[in-house]
Amino acid sequence: MCGIVGFTGARQAAPILLDGLAKLEYRGYDSAGMAVRDGDGKIEVVKAKGRLSALAEKTNNGQSLAGTCGIGHTRWATHGEPSEDNAHPHCSDDGNVVAVHNGIIENYQELKDKLLRKGYQFYSSTDTEVAVKLIDYYYKKYLGTPVDAINHAMVRIRGSYALAVMFMAYPGEIYVARKDSPMILGIEDGESYLASDVPAILKYTRNVYYIGNMEIGRLEKGRVTFYNLDGDEIEKELTEIEWDAEAAEKAGFEHFMMKEIHEQPKAVEDTIRSVVKDGTIDFSGVGMTEEDMRGIRQIYIVACGSAYHVGVAAQYVIEDMAKIPVRVELASEFRYRHPLLDPEGLVVVISQSGETADSLAALREAKSRGIKTLGIVNVVGSSIAREADNVFYTLAGPEIAVATTKAYSTQLIACYALAVQLAKVRGEIDDSQYAYYVAELETLPEKMQRIIGDKERIQWFAAKQAAAKDIFFIGRGIDYAISLEGSLKMKEISYIHSEAYAAGELKHGTISLIENGTLVIGVLTQQELYEKTVSNMVECKSRGAYLMGLTTYGNYNIEDTADFVVYVPKTDPHFATSLAVIPLQLMGYYVSVAKGLDVDKPRNLAKSVTVE
Ligand code: F6R
Repeated sequence: MCGIVGFTGARQAAPILLDGLAKLEYRGYDSAGMAVRDGDGKIEVVKAKGRLSALAEKTNNGQSLAGTCGIGHTRWATHGEPSEDNAHPHCSDDGNVVAVHNGIIENYQELKDKLLRKGYQFYSSTDTEVAVKLIDYYYKKYLGTPVDAINHAMVRIRGSYALAVMFMAYPGEIYVARKDSPMILGIEDGESYLASDVPAILKYTRNVYYIGNMEIGRLEKGRVTFYNLDGDEIEKELTEIEWDAEAAEKAGFEHFMMKEIHEQPKAVEDTIRSVVKDGTIDFSGVGMTEEDMRGIRQIYIVACGSAYHVGVAAQYVIEDMAKIPVRVELASEFRYRHPLLDPEGLVVVISQSGETADSLAALREAKSRGIKTLGIVNVVGSSIAREADNVFYTLAGPEIAVATTKAYSTQLIACYALAVQLAKVRGEIDDSQYAYYVAELETLPEKMQRIIGDKERIQWFAAKQAAAKDIFFIGRGIDYAISLEGSLKMKEISYIHSEAYAAGELKHGTISLIENGTLVIGVLTQQELYEKTVSNMVECKSRGAYLMGLTTYGNYNIEDTADFVVYVPKTDPHFATSLAVIPLQLMGYYVSVAKGLDVDKPRNLAKSVTVE
């Protein structure tokens, strides 16, 4: 889950690499490095432990590293601790082959043993150094081209990688290879770029190629040639990125997370508009026909983290509206538990990045079993988007903050649209109910906007929670799904221990953790379950808890129980998650800010988890 960039052209490479790496820092930030080459001179490598600023300082913002061809890397450690030795780029023993890598090489130990037997020496504990030396080994053994050497290495390597390699004998060229790790290549007027993600090169070009699995690319100035595993040239289509470059920047907000919270109404509206036309939901762009929808006997929703929490909410909505049984599974469990799958089932994989290793593996597992798959994905051209039978693209745009907000909200919309459409084509709702649900969906952006407009009240309350030791989120039904996400937002960016509990489950053990002053947040958007959750909140209060209630306007009697209340507008209860989650995102954000933490890059986390 590291970030890689590369450039070859007429301009100085190092400043372009640093600029691109800054856009990718969310992918990892424990060390960074660059390799730059001036003409046919030596390949110069500079690395620094810590944030990218350390590398910028060391190279005088790239000025001290001359050359028009180079590769760069920002690291999130997998093999080997964060250190300068373990930072990329890595080099062959003679320094003639230099590479950066994102991914994990699973059989690196076996390959390392082989190379040690051949006389290679190792200075780092990374799997990447093994990959570089393996390429160098085949390069020397067969005296072939870089493409031949990389091909030989690819056949031996198990795992995932996006590799960018420079060879001493090929000045001005960069070779890339990819398997299961994201990478795009861009070209513009005599310049070529590579990056793990679009924002890194968006400022320079919108013309990109998506390199496929087990393919190789050769970058020259303004030209990219692709090869398959046999070394034969293959054709690729150039795609134009339509994202606005502004969209990948902070636009005046202090943090990406706050910017992205504010972008939710628009992202949700765009996503609704992508499937709702004149009051009718149209799944033809997703590639699912009404006949497909009628034939589904069981739905499996598979995802990780917040995307999994979307699945938990969707389970309630789909089962209730469309009367189809739904199972929600963590992708990391699904992939290894040999699930019994209904051949007439649909596996829905939800992923912002489209690259999450476990979610991708779960998708492949489903496909290998012949089950139909639907990806709900934000990043166009990502692995899950390419491999799923059908794709619902959420239109959240680039999400930079590690903690997801707008992608989560658009994933919910995709699930609601699916639920309503399934209910309609299967005859579970009539035309007027259908029209009601669609109209209700369309009111969400404006209601979200209103909640965001009221953020100062939450800021005031959140600032007082900075010293909290534990926070509990409780709710029933959909309110439990909301609690799960609220709790994750809180813990991942504020580092305060927090847990989400189905409100009725608390007294089966967890309630013993409630002490004087422990903050318990009760989520109460589901009218049917309101009284039940209030009772559970009272049970906590009588054990000393300090209570916050999150409910809809109108439920004012909650003030008799809770010490602090946040109200959100009313909506159809199926869609309540979209509204209630916003105050909880804001809570996590403001607690993190009050504690002076790095909101956008919480410790130990990275945006896209491309290792299992
Ligand atoms: C939490 C968060 C993560 C992701 C999870 C899945 O705020 O962002 O829990 O939801 O890592 O990522 P994607 O959606 O890219 O598969």
